[in-house]
Amino acid sequence: MLIDTYGRVATDLRVSLTDRCNLRCTYCMPEEGLQWLAKPDLLTDDEIVRLIRIAVTELGIEEVRFTGGEPLLRPGLVSIVERCAALEPRPKMSLTTNGIGLKRTAKALKAAGLDRVNVSLDTLRPDVFKTLTRRDRHRDVLEGLEAARDAGLTPVKVNTVLMPGLNDDEAPDLLAWAVENDYELRFIEQMPLDAQHGWKRDGMITAGDILASLRTRFDLTEEGSERRGSAPAERWVVDGGPHRVGVIASVTRPFCAACDRTRLTADGQVRTCLFAREETDLRAALRAAPEDAAKGSDAAADAEIARVWRLAMWGKKAGSGLDDPTFLQPDRPMSAIGG
Ligand code: 5AD
Ligand code: SF4
Repeated sequence: MLIDTYGRVATDLRVSLTDRCNLRCTYCMPEEGLQWLAKPDLLTDDEIVRLIRIAVTELGIEEVRFTGGEPLLRPGLVSIVERCAALEPRPKMSLTTNGIGLKRTAKALKAAGLDRVNVSLDTLRPDVFKTLTRRDRHRDVLEGLEAARDAGLTPVKVNTVLMPGLNDDEAPDLLAWAVENDYELRFIEQMPLDAQHGWKRDGMITAGDILASLRTRFDLTEEGSERRGSAPAERWVVDGGPHRVGVIASVTRPFCAACDRTRLTADGQVRTCLFAREETDLRAALRAAPEDAAKGSDAAADAEIARVWRLAMWGKKAGSGLDDPTFLQPDRPMSAIGG
């Protein structure tokens, strides 16, 4: 098991498959992009599958979420999913994507064993999309969403970040659209994880703002809080159901006490929290005892990797520290951590 000193158990693993992206969302990356990780530093497909195998068989991980950057940019994605689907016990698998390219890959991902997708979409207006992401790809995202739904990667969840003065008036329109298209919409409060360090608490759109805006058009009933569990989204039933809307209030209503996550970066570092300032290197341990195709896995080496991972989890902090006056943003931006 992965357990920390506060008794929290991680069963949900987020794996970043690349730090690269084909969008440049203003709350995430600067216009010019970032200094990408060098190829030799990235975990190989084999290394990723090996770590997921260790997580599933030795550490009690039940769910694997593939993230980026943009995970569809990873050439080996379908085969990684396929290999993970063959693990015993088989983890639940989902993907957080910006949706570009999903039109082409949704069917293959479903066939490989992917269960679900979360697609990021902040606006229904192509011009606002272009301002927010600095790319003219709105249509690709909408088509990707439809392809995911048609391929059965359901429930398809849509992640939306509202930015003041850009799309903060769109919450009710987005919800009407999501209900009509059978997507589950979740608003995420903007977090201080942008590479440019431009986040300001004052300006951000809070969960309270979002709910007030939605209630101008919809009747929202809070779903019993016992349903929230460790899922970060608080959910509301829309107009008596069956549709629901979620709000992930990481800033104004943090859920650290119920967190069940552990994270792996594309270069093989374990992070216990999005906001952690420490990382634990698993890549060195992996490469010190590489798997041998002929001999198969090395049980002693795998056990050592599991031990290092447990130790990292043991050091997990109580909370994100966002409310602490000494809070410092992590060195890596969201795109290099994995959402
Ligand atoms: N704050 C909140 N959400 C963010 N995302 C990316 N950067 C931020 C941020 N600074 C979202 C993306 C995606 C998910 C992985 O996180 O829009 O939906
Ligand atoms: Fe790419 Fe996601 Fe960052 Fe947007 S938020 S630039 S889609 S990694």
